[in-house]
Amino acid sequence: MGDKIISGLSKIKGGKSHRVKRRLSRYILAVVIAALLLKMAPSLYSVMIIAIFVGALFGINLYVEQINSKSFNISADAALNKEKKHYNDHGERFKKDELGCWCVYSRPGNTYRILHLADIHIGNSFISFKKDQKALRAIERVINHTQPDLVVVTGDMVYPVPLLSGSGNNLTATRLFANFMESFGIPWTVTFGNHDEEIFSWYPLESLCEVYEQSHNCLFQRGPDGVTGVSNHIINILNSDGTLNTSLFMLDSHDYINPFLFLHYDHIREDQVEWYEQQIKSISNYYNNGKIVPSLAFFHIPLNEFNDAWELWQNGGDPEVYYHYGEKVEKVSAPIKRSSIFEKMVELGSTRGVFVGHDHYNDFSITYRGIRLTYGKSIDYLAYMKIAQSNWQRGGTLIEIDQSANMEITPLSISKIDQEENCK
Ligand SMILES: [Fe+2]
Repeated sequence: MGDKIISGLSKIKGGKSHRVKRRLSRYILAVVIAALLLKMAPSLYSVMIIAIFVGALFGINLYVEQINSKSFNISADAALNKEKKHYNDHGERFKKDELGCWCVYSRPGNTYRILHLADIHIGNSFISFKKDQKALRAIERVINHTQPDLVVVTGDMVYPVPLLSGSGNNLTATRLFANFMESFGIPWTVTFGNHDEEIFSWYPLESLCEVYEQSHNCLFQRGPDGVTGVSNHIINILNSDGTLNTSLFMLDSHDYINPFLFLHYDHIREDQVEWYEQQIKSISNYYNNGKIVPSLAFFHIPLNEFNDAWELWQNGGDPEVYYHYGEKVEKVSAPIKRSSIFEKMVELGSTRGVFVGHDHYNDFSITYRGIRLTYGKSIDYLAYMKIAQSNWQRGGTLIEIDQSANMEITPLSISKIDQEENCK
């Protein structure tokens, strides 16, 4: 049953009307900008000046893209202990199981280390050049410090908002990010955020999917057919004896309910919730004789329950809420419509932790109704006003899972990492 459910992983599906609407709004936006330019520049001479100006910007951006790709096609392998790249008995670092999911292997006697990164916001333009360098160097420091077995990036890898980032080219920015991640030689994956394909961006998510799928160490998979979103996929962590330790669910939390309503966020849809339930049951049947397996979920936009949990804790506590760490500095930007995924998680009893990004200044972690809800630390130097000057929120979140699937979560800010590295 399971292989049927996941068999269509290579095709894109879901949200078709939303995507048509998005493309249409892009054309409308282009026509409005062209009309404004023509109104402002009625003479041929002025049109030529604008064309030269735009051409020059493109030229500079092409040059910057080249410098960026040269600077960051570094091999960070040397900084990593190569023995950490563990293999199964057949010498494979990762493989697909019969359900169509990628599997990675934990080493005997060791915890499995997942590094959660959120909101990278690469612009890859002349405006964002310095901030991109800082963002990638920050990731490099976090990876070298944590030595993860797997890196999961929960969206907004790129930031194609030309007025702020200097470019709408989300494809070259994605290539830069993917090449950079590949240079570490460790398995990694992504889910998409609301900014990876913006109304102003030049390429659809399908083009970005190809970059991730073609990256050798990237375990990203599109799909599956008939389920809304392009980045729903699963990675299974196997113990050294081949038993399943934990399933990692990457879910697509989409972007906006309407491309022009930037603050009205979409939610994880019913068909995704059904898919999630089917997969939990299929994996449990395949690996665990039907006994529900432990899992974690990763996506971009926080659930409304993040806010519920925080409010309950603020209002004097609740037996179902346990605060672990962190701050809520900004509003929880949850979807307008509540998804049923959290209730399904509680009902099935498989998912022990949910990891999100999106709100760059929130980094709290709270257990609510038995599920640990955690904001990942963000990387962003570009999107939030003056965020480049702030360091406490920047870094990564380390999730360590032992052979019995017990989990420990550690937030690591860049400042803390630098301090620890300096003390070595
Ligand atoms: Fe973001």
